[in-house]
Amino acid sequence: MNIVETGTARLRDDFAGAGMATITFGDFCKRYDKHLWTVDILPEAIALSKRLTIEFQDAITYVTGDLVEFLSTFSGRIDLLYLDSADCPDRDAEPERLQHSQEHQLREMGAAWDKLHEQSIILLDDNDFANGGKCALTNKLAEHGWMCLMADKQVLWIWDSKIQFRAQCPGWTSL
Ligand SMILES: C[S@@+](CC[C@H](N)C(=O)[O-])C[C@H]1O[C@@H](n2cnc3c(N)ncnc32)[C@H](O)[C@@H]1O
Repeated sequence: MNIVETGTARLRDDFAGAGMATITFGDFCKRYDKHLWTVDILPEAIALSKRLTIEFQDAITYVTGDLVEFLSTFSGRIDLLYLDSADCPDRDAEPERLQHSQEHQLREMGAAWDKLHEQSIILLDDNDFANGGKCALTNKLAEHGWMCLMADKQVLWIWDSKIQFRAQCPGWTSL
C-alpha cells in the first residue's frame, strides 16, 4: 500500500496547525508494513521531516522537488493520496492567493489521476474556510465518479462502487 503526501511536516509540534500528518502516516506505515512517499519543494522542510519521523524512516521515501512533477512521473499506484501543499489564505483579502491554492490542488489531482484506482482514498486539506477554502475546484470530483464521505476541515473521497471506474483524467492539468 502506498500513501502519497504532498507537502511534508515543516514545523515542530504543529498538531493544531498543519496537523503533522507525516508523523501519523509514517507511524501507520511502519506499524502495518505500508509505505509513505512525502514530497516537498523545500530541502529544509524535508530535512526537518526526516528528523521528526526518524523512528519510521524505513517506511518512508522523502522526495525533495516539485510535487506536480513528482506525481506526473510516479510509477506506482496511489492507495491514499493526501494533498496538503500550497497554503490557503484564511481571509478574503487575498483572492489571488486563494485562487492559486485552489488551482494548484486541481493540478495535483490531475497529475495523480492515472495512479488512482477504484479503492483509492483521496484526502484534501484546507476545506471549509469562510472564503471557500482550497477544495472549491476539486469538488467537481463528484462529477467524475467520486463520492464525498466527509467534508469538514478536510474532504475525503472514495470511488462510487456503483459506477465503473474510469482512469481517464478529465484534463485538469491544463490549468
Ligand atoms: C502545510 S505544509 C505540509 C504539512 C504536512 N503535510 C503536515 O501534515 O505536517 C505545506 C508544504 O507544501 C510545500 N509545497 C508547496 N508547494 C509545493 C510544490 N509545488 N511542490 C512541493 N512542495 C510544495 C511547502 O514547501 C510546505 O512545506
